[in-house]
Amino acid sequence: MKGIILVGGLGTRLDPMTRVTNKHLLPVGQFPMVYYPLHSLVDAGIRDIMLVTGGNNPGAFLELLHDGREFGLDHLHFTYQREPQGIADAVRCAQHFVGDDRCLVMLGDNILAGSIRPFVESYLANPVGAKVLLAEVPDPERFGVPQFDDEDNIAKIIEKPAQPPSSYAVIGVYMYDQLLWEILPALQLSARGQYEITDVHNAYLERGLLSYDIIDFGWSDAGTSESLFRATQMMHDSDFLPVVNTTPSE
Ligand code: DAU
Repeated sequence: MKGIILVGGLGTRLDPMTRVTNKHLLPVGQFPMVYYPLHSLVDAGIRDIMLVTGGNNPGAFLELLHDGREFGLDHLHFTYQREPQGIADAVRCAQHFVGDDRCLVMLGDNILAGSIRPFVESYLANPVGAKVLLAEVPDPERFGVPQFDDEDNIAKIIEKPAQPPSSYAVIGVYMYDQLLWEILPALQLSARGQYEITDVHNAYLERGLLSYDIIDFGWSDAGTSESLFRATQMMHDSDFLPVVNTTPSE
């Protein structure tokens, strides 16, 4: 399974902190933000990873991460999203990297206080489809929110609903098969001018091919000053921290 981490976008909700740097380079506790999703993927056993960069200072990721050696990787792959046209558009930039494989996409501003490895393993045990992960949150209106039917299946997902149909958020960890590459080119721009990842998930739902798991550990996005503060506090108290080998390279 290939891993894709999205670190593009302009991070305008963190202005002025993101005016001259990339949001995913800001500190969350003792590490730059991008270290956390990278650690989540490596911990899940994913070794082939591409960063989709964009926005401010895209080249800084190469300077910071080199070939991924600190994380025990042999290589890291990088590509570039020309315009911040949404999460689904950023995923498309990595199609050539995924090839015939399946992929796990993680948003670069999502911070997890526990391992996604069991969810990845249960996803890979299914031959087809996509999987999303849910977390119970006090402020679902800020996220993609699932609406459940009577049998607790997801009926549809609504992006940032004014009246949330449940108290769950779809967190920024998504697992896909090859159907993704048929769905992406058919997407329309949303009212906010983006290609929405929620539309991808609803397309999987229409085909009966979306499963979900609920995570049982802390999660936060870090795209606003409040959530960045929350993520920092959460990781301050967490044992699930990036494991990095900082031995200088020979
Ligand atoms: O954090 C989870 C939420 O992330 C989900 O519940 C929502 O369904 C999903 O739409 C997303 O919501 P946000 O509005 O918070 O996403 P944001 O625009 O902040 O983008 C999240 C990350 O995706 C960001 O850290 C970098 C990457 N990104 C985003 C855009 C718009 C890109 O790489 N390129 C882009 O064009």
